[in-house]
Amino acid sequence: MNDRRTFLKNLGALGAGVAAVGAVAPAVATAAETAAPPRPSGSRYLGDFAAPKLEQVRWGVIGLGERGSVLAGILGQIEGSQVVAISDLYSDYCQRTVAALAKHGRPAPAVYQGDPKRYHELLARPDVDAVVIATPWEEHAPMAIAALRAGKHAFVEVPLAPTLPELWAIIDAAERAGRHCMMLENCNYGREELFYLNLCRQGVLGELLHAEAAYIHELRFQMQHVERGTGSWRTPHYSPAHGGNLYPTHGLGPVAQYLSLARTEDNFERLVSFSSPGRGRTLAARKNFPPDHRWNRLKFEGGDISTQIVKTTLGRTVLVQWDETSPRPYSRHDLVQGTQGTVAGFPPRAAIEGRGDYHKWLQGEAYEKLREEFEHPLYRRLGAQAEKMGGHGGMDSIMLLRLVECLRRGEALDQNLYEGAYWSAVRPLSAASEAAGGAPQLFPDFTRGGWRTTKPLAVVA
Ligand SMILES: NC(=O)c1ccc[n+]([C@@H]2O[C@H](COP(=O)([O-])OP(=O)(O)OC[C@H]3O[C@@H](n4cnc5c(N)ncnc54)[C@H](O)[C@@H]3O)[C@@H](O)[C@H]2O)c1
Repeated sequence: MNDRRTFLKNLGALGAGVAAVGAVAPAVATAAETAAPPRPSGSRYLGDFAAPKLEQVRWGVIGLGERGSVLAGILGQIEGSQVVAISDLYSDYCQRTVAALAKHGRPAPAVYQGDPKRYHELLARPDVDAVVIATPWEEHAPMAIAALRAGKHAFVEVPLAPTLPELWAIIDAAERAGRHCMMLENCNYGREELFYLNLCRQGVLGELLHAEAAYIHELRFQMQHVERGTGSWRTPHYSPAHGGNLYPTHGLGPVAQYLSLARTEDNFERLVSFSSPGRGRTLAARKNFPPDHRWNRLKFEGGDISTQIVKTTLGRTVLVQWDETSPRPYSRHDLVQGTQGTVAGFPPRAAIEGRGDYHKWLQGEAYEKLREEFEHPLYRRLGAQAEKMGGHGGMDSIMLLRLVECLRRGEALDQNLYEGAYWSAVRPLSAASEAAGGAPQLFPDFTRGGWRTTKPLAVVA
């Protein structure tokens, strides 16, 4: 414990030094520039927020494309959860979800389709407690804010919103409404991620110093969606130069919780970002589409691979990477390193002092043994059921089972409003850093100081 105190004290001193250096470096935004605006009156901090118990959670789902249809299908299988209303622009997407719910013996939900404003009718229904928003990124903030103003809990797909002003507007709306607004980061409920969280909490890795997170997922095929579907709205996002990391949260969410960032122990302080040249989307457009096609009229200037280093308040480091274009295998990196060892995903492996030769990764059977010892209790309880229910190997189902459980018990959720904002903020901050030649960008304090007293996420059983 004394060692830990000395370590933290030294880091504190180092932090002061860094701040002093930052103060003389003109490229570094000052704390005053990024200072949080005061909390509007009538609003309250929601770090450990728990809402009154709900007997049944009655859902509205907005957006029934690739993602929303999966979420609605899972919500329709959970006890104490009922999808009462759905909304999408397309009637065939709505009917697909109606049919999926019927297959699980659930009554037909009310359907609001065919017009971009009809989701407001869903929000006006008194029998909707909570809303899932699984629409294109630019719709997240307006829809979440409208849902919160209508008195609903809002559960928003990733990222929470693509810009800092939108993130602040969501925070203000949730704090004023006194309702949950959680970004649905499903990867925090992956089996390995839960296992690593447990290892961190049990102290097996020692003092945590560094983590690595990524979303490396080759998605050029989505350019085939031209009129509608994910690629139809997502492809133009690859176009602007200095786009930074468009999709940071899948890798970052879990490692941020390993380090308890924005929850008492430490917080996001600043980041720097650099990207490679952008090549792959232009090549794909030329190869697969006629010269006058929509995609060939766009310039794809955002970098194919984008890399950030986040420095935390305690001086710890997090590497974040993103690449949806290059031909390479999928990875979220999912690495966390401490004074006693390291675990990493893709493929899963560990090296821990006192558990074999740490110059070599523990893999295969030896790794399975470690996992058996430290399997997260939530996975032990819900893993088999969730795998049957589906959704990215079951992690979507664990997330939604857990959400319904917390709402019915009136407990705080595993991810709070502010974590969603911090994880999402890597996109605009990485873009700003790249536009400024890689200059450090300070994270806003979305919690307005509240992170210092917000409990770290415990190992939920
Ligand atoms: N967590 C994950 O694993 C995961 C996976 C895929 C996508 N996502 C996220 O889910 C969201 C949706 O992505 P997707 O791939 O399903 O896209 P999609 O294009 O397949 O679906 C979006 C749907 O939103 C609907 N929509 C748009 N505007 C609307 C409006 N005004 N009213 C009602 N419906 C409206 C569209 O008709 C469309 O069907 C994105 O935020 C994406 O980042 C998350």
